[in-house]
Amino acid sequence: MPSILPLPETPRLETERLVLRPLAIKDAPAIQQHFAHWEMVRHLVARVPWPYPADGAETNVRECLAKRARGEQFYWAITLKGGGDKLIGRIDLRPDAGVGAMRGFWLAQEYWGRGLMTEAADAVNAYAFEVLDWPYIEVSTNAANLASQRIKEKQGFTPIGLATDSYVEGIRSKAYWRLTQAGWRARQLHVDR
Ligand SMILES: CC(C)(COP(=O)(O)OP(=O)(O)OC[C@H]1O[C@@H](n2cnc3c(N)ncnc32)[C@H](O)[C@@H]1OP(=O)(O)O)[C@@H](O)C(=O)NCCC(=O)NCCS
Repeated sequence: MPSILPLPETPRLETERLVLRPLAIKDAPAIQQHFAHWEMVRHLVARVPWPYPADGAETNVRECLAKRARGEQFYWAITLKGGGDKLIGRIDLRPDAGVGAMRGFWLAQEYWGRGLMTEAADAVNAYAFEVLDWPYIEVSTNAANLASQRIKEKQGFTPIGLATDSYVEGIRSKAYWRLTQAGWRARQLHVDR
């Protein structure tokens, strides 16, 4: 992937049910409320602090906004249309740094199982391929995280390797996945028919 930093401003993206808008410091209390739960963090990489500190969300949002200001990464707050602009989850995107972590996401637990993260991630993939013209997206998952892997399968990602890594819940297998722009375009043609 060619050198593409600094990234453009984080755009507002709309889907059928969601608005994805740039993350802001005002989102820290909602993140603290939705994110600081075992079922949320257990499958995430071990650099996520657990037990989650009282200022964990604010510290994290400040770090994200500093990276955003340097043009290194996109951070979207996921909000529901008609939901008063309140954050219910997050999705991030960054260029390839060789670690298989170009996209990451989480959603407040009360909204799981409605296809919302697939919808958000579809919009972010479309932005990466159609607007940024990235040749591929590579991601990795704790292999025990079946919901996250199912989203990748539904989006046409292909498994490309396995390793082990340290997660909040312990040492686990780590699965690497890749979706090429060509593969994504082929699926769009199929879906549009
Ligand atoms: C992963 C996560 C974002 C999924 O969000 P979501 O909005 O519920 O996801 P979707 O509804 O779009 O899709 C989830 C898919 O996984 C499936 N799924 C959920 N739990 C599953 C399980 N235990 N085993 C197999 N499939 C499962 C769902 O049925 C759905 O597939 P389907 O559409 O074919 O039925 C959410 O669970 C989350 O925030 N988890 C905590 C943070 C996290 O793990 N982030 C990812 C790090 S890689």
